[in-house]
This record gives sequence, structure tokens and C-alpha cells, in this order.
Amino acid sequence: MIETRALRKVYPAPPHRRAIPRGGAQFAPPAPRHTPVGTRVSGGIAALDSLDLSVRQGEFFGLLGPNGAGKTTTIGILTTRIRATSGDAIVAGANVRTEDVAVRRRIGVVPQRPNPDRGLNVIENLLFHGAYFGLSSGLAERRAMALLDQFDITDKAHAKVDDLSGGQQQRLMIARALLHEPNVIFLDEPTVGLDPQARHTLWDLLRQLHADGRTIVMTTHYMEEADELCDRLAIIDHGKLLACDTPAKLKAQAPGQTLIDLTLSGDIAAAVEWCRAVPGVTAVDATGVALRAYSERGSEAIPALIHACEDAGCRVENINLSKPSLETLFISLTGRKLD
Ligand SMILES: Nc1ncnc2c1ncn2[C@@H]1O[C@H](COP(=O)(O)OP(=O)(O)OP(=O)(O)O)[C@@H](O)[C@H]1O
Ligand SMILES: [Mg+2]
Repeated sequence: MIETRALRKVYPAPPHRRAIPRGGAQFAPPAPRHTPVGTRVSGGIAALDSLDLSVRQGEFFGLLGPNGAGKTTTIGILTTRIRATSGDAIVAGANVRTEDVAVRRRIGVVPQRPNPDRGLNVIENLLFHGAYFGLSSGLAERRAMALLDQFDITDKAHAKVDDLSGGQQQRLMIARALLHEPNVIFLDEPTVGLDPQARHTLWDLLRQLHADGRTIVMTTHYMEEADELCDRLAIIDHGKLLACDTPAKLKAQAPGQTLIDLTLSGDIAAAVEWCRAVPGVTAVDATGVALRAYSERGSEAIPALIHACEDAGCRVENINLSKPSLETLFISLTGRKLD
């Protein structure tokens, strides 16, 4: 249903803003270096780098990645909002580059930031969308009412969008995405900012859409959500695919050991060396003030790790223990936590 081949996206680098001092522009100091999360390449920032993905018909497919990994860029290209720098993508049988109108007719999109027309009420938002896709007003109204009922917001049909809760706005965005009956639905972080109850309501809705046979592509920051809902997951970072499989198979790939996270102050590079010598510890790495040690003896390694850090001249500020899971696999692949 979706195939991408060597997708690459390079955004132009943001222009350097030069502070103009009183003495005039010719004495301007060097511009401060801006460090974006994406990879800097000549000519810009590579948000996607040779991404190959394949999503089957009827599949619930998850895209997982830390901030700046390239998830929204991927969705943007597949939904024709963003033009790829190179590479190809076919969505529901149409090429995003050359058949963008056909692609848009066959997909529904729920963007990362809800973007209803706030000048229109709830039902008008749906009817306007129906008119955009050429539905007759009678058909659009019938479908809109059915969707509002399905998503339990019928009583809000004539309310202003700003009077809806976050969860209700999110349901309206999904209703709008479904109005023209697309086969493929893209959702970019649909449950961010929702309370647990609203999140579970949305999960049930998404399960229902999946059970109806739709193909769903969803990005998320929540491991639990990805694990619960998705048939397959792709883990991406720095615009590259790091792993792609069912949640169960990915979990089986997680380092089969306990992950011990230590937050340190002091010379962390020295602590890494000392910790590597602790019996039962198979791997150690560090980012910023966080040191990660994988232990095949579970929590037993903790006292020795604390001593090793202290011997290296560091102070241990915090300790966290995680069992092998999607989360520990993710950290071992990206070196970062999802949040
Ligand atoms: N319009 C743009 N212009 C320049 N750089 C951009 C633009 N949009 C995204 N980027 C950069 O591309 C990279 C990927 O961004 P993208 O929004 O695809 O990430 P993401 O995985 O969706 O992140 P998040 O989890 O924060 O939503 C980042 O480095 C980002 O700064
Ligand atoms: Mg995003």
C-alpha cells in the first residue's frame, strides 16, 4: 500500500542572523552556530536519508523516533505536503511526486498540530472538507453526522471548535480525515497532550478503523501505544531506518539484559571506563550526564557501578533500572530516550 525508495529530504539551512553592532555591519561578530537535530550536510539539513519503507494493505504501521528523527517529514512526503529532495514514494497506487491529486483523494491526514478552521463550527468543518473533495452536500452531511455519532461528539455539532476539549478536537480531526472515505490514514502523534482516558478512547477508535480494514500509519512518542496498536513498527533516527518489525520481534531483539541508567556529575568519560570493568556489565555508553550500563546480573551490579563512578571522581545523582523492552531496544539503537 505504501512503498518508499531511497527517500531523502534536505531542508535549506536556516539563514544565520548576524547581530549588527553599533560600529556598523562590517565589524559584525561571527554568527552564532545553530545546531539543529537533523544532520547538517552541504546545502542544508538532511531530515531523511535514504529511507526505504514498505507498508502492507490493512496494516497498522507505527513510526517511532525521538524529536527531530524525521517522522513528520516522512508523513509530509507521503501525504504530498512536502516534496522529497530525491527518491520515490508510492501511496495507494499513486506516485506522490507526479500524481499528488490522486494520492490526496485516497488518504486521510491527521496532522501533528490540530488545524481545524476555527472560524467554522464542528459540522461546518466537516462539510467544508466534503465540498473540497467534491461530495454532494447531502452525502457530506449524512457522513458527517454518522462520524460525529461514531466519535461521540454529536452534541458538539454546532459548537465552536475552541469549545471542544483536546480529545474532542482530536476526534474531530480524525472524523474530518475520514469524511471522503480514504483507504489509508496518516496520524502524526495523535494522542500527544491527551489525558489517559481520552487516549484510551482514541485507541479504541483507531482499533475500530483498523478492524474495518484501513491501512493506518501513525507516529508516536509512546512505546506503550506503539506496542498496543501497531502490527509493525519502524524505528527511525537522524532520517535513517534503524529497525522495522513486529513489536514482539523487536522486543526479542532488545539487549537481553537490565539497563541501568545513572545520572552523574563529574568526568563522565572516566566513569564509563571504570564502569566497563564492573563484573556482569556487558556494555556501557554515555550521552551528556547520563551513563547507561547493561547488566546481565540485574540490579546486583548497582553497588559496584556506584563505586566505579565514585572512583572515577563522579557523583551519582540518580539511578533508574529498566527490564528489556521496546524502550531499552530503542535506547540501545538511538542512544536516546523517546521523551
Ligand atoms: N521546514 C523545515 N525547515 C528546516 N528544517 C526542518 C524543517 N522541518 C523539519 N526540519 C528539520 O528536519 C529534522 C526532522 O524534523 P521532523 O519534524 O521530521 O522530525 P520529527 O521526527 O517529526 O520530530 P518531532 O518528534 O519533534 O515531531 C529536524 O532536524 C528538523 O529541525
Ligand atoms: Mg513530528
